[in-house]
Amino acid sequence: MAWQYRDGVDLIQLENSSVLPMLRGVFLKSLYHNCFLYLLTETTNFFCSTLSILSSYTNVEDQFQFRLAPGRKKEVKKVMKKVSVIGIGKTRYGVFKEKSLLDLAVEAGKKAMEDAGIAPEDIDAFYLGNFAGSDFVNQNHLAPYIGSPLGLRPDVPCTHIENACASGGSSVREGILAIGSGNANKVLVIGVEKMNTVPTPKVTEFLAKAGDWENEVKVGYTFPSTFAMMARRHMHQYGTTREHLAAVTVKNHENGLKNPYAHMQKSVTMEKVLEDKRVVADPLRLYDCSLITDGASAVILSEKSFSETFSRKPVDVIGFGQANDSFALYQKQDLTRFDATVEAAKSAFIMADIKPDDVDVSEVHDCFTIAEIIAIEDLGFVPKGEGGPATLDGVTSLDGRFPVNPSGGLKAKGHPVGATGVDQIVEITLQLRGEAGKRQVNDAEIGLTHNIGGSGATCVVHILARG
Ligand SMILES: CC(C)(COP(=O)(O)OP(=O)(O)OC[C@H]1O[C@@H](n2cnc3c(N)ncnc32)[C@H](O)[C@@H]1OP(=O)(O)O)[C@@H](O)C(=O)NCCC(=O)NCCS
Repeated sequence: MAWQYRDGVDLIQLENSSVLPMLRGVFLKSLYHNCFLYLLTETTNFFCSTLSILSSYTNVEDQFQFRLAPGRKKEVKKVMKKVSVIGIGKTRYGVFKEKSLLDLAVEAGKKAMEDAGIAPEDIDAFYLGNFAGSDFVNQNHLAPYIGSPLGLRPDVPCTHIENACASGGSSVREGILAIGSGNANKVLVIGVEKMNTVPTPKVTEFLAKAGDWENEVKVGYTFPSTFAMMARRHMHQYGTTREHLAAVTVKNHENGLKNPYAHMQKSVTMEKVLEDKRVVADPLRLYDCSLITDGASAVILSEKSFSETFSRKPVDVIGFGQANDSFALYQKQDLTRFDATVEAAKSAFIMADIKPDDVDVSEVHDCFTIAEIIAIEDLGFVPKGEGGPATLDGVTSLDGRFPVNPSGGLKAKGHPVGATGVDQIVEITLQLRGEAGKRQVNDAEIGLTHNIGGSGATCVVHILARG
């Protein structure tokens, strides 16, 4: 059990396996307050929350058979201070020779503050998601580099988070924790990447640095080849076909066409995708790959109790989780599954007290078509091995049972790697506000984001709900 104390009870991390230490903590805290009533209230709260969390946990586990690490059965985490998304902003995604990384990040940040109706001096903390600024634009120390021209106060901590393609998702999570712990009232999170500064082979080389350099990258590991091996294994194990992969492409290109900010504004037919001969890493071809994109996205987070005073409809963060998996591909037990996704989703669903069935719309990490198929299986939307047929049957289409990647996803909207996790929050916020235009999912109340880094060594899941 861990207390973080500031002006009352701000954040409590509960571990139900540690009941006695927790009660001891409550008791010590009551002595600190010198107040018996406090002890009584906290003890009652603790038992109520424990009961409700344990019951939700059982449901989630039963329905989706989450695999649990030994000893984790009774572990739960809950953030007590509620957090809302009160502002969003983004640049167009594409290839922008004339715009610097700084231009993109500042544009997205300003738009988010404008959307929230706040000024730079209102921000208490700034988190930046970026993967490879030092490679692509020869610039390190990016958080103050961007925070200063945005006009943030000098006392504001500016922190850069690098977690490969999950840099954006991890940055949002840090922002939520800063508010949940009482360290900040309003947090700016920006994700940015400017990738079109070097030719494609160099981009591939820079991106591969998120893999295991000593054991795999040195002997030819790249992201297309990694996901190609996963696709091959999924095909072998579950009978997934190239048609199933192509169904992801067709759907996401169609959705991207409805998103004016998407990089790729082109629909493609199943025939065209299947006929395309441009092999990137067999069995993956051109249309199975995400794009090399420049762009930035931003969100403003705030404590929920303040969110009603801001201009836009608030969207609440009701659950989140981040987990890790074996770093190198050769260490993975099963190439058709991302353990980090399963673990991160489990934490998020438990915290939100919902099941995968309750999710109305999601943005998942489709860096390659096979990644979307694996994601919808790992998140519990469809049974293992059925991601391909489900996609072909329209389950993940805009009007399907589980609409996935209405923005066009990484495949068509684009994948400026450090920005992606933040942009997923932007898209889900638009969906829950009912402001997603032609790609709006009807009556969306609960949305999920899923952002992975490397070959799945990091995964961050967030669950948002209409405020
Ligand atoms: C697939 C990939 C190799 C193509 O790069 P490329 O061969 O340099 O392609 P080009 O930029 O020369 O574009 C050639 C054509 O294909 C199109 N194209 C490029 N990438 C595309 C993609 N991913 N999907 C669909 N079309 C694409 C271009 O628009 C262009 O079309 P045009 O001839 O009509 O103008 C590159 O996009 C890639 O590496 N993607 C994966 C990025 C990645 O690994 N991200 C991290 C994931 S974890």
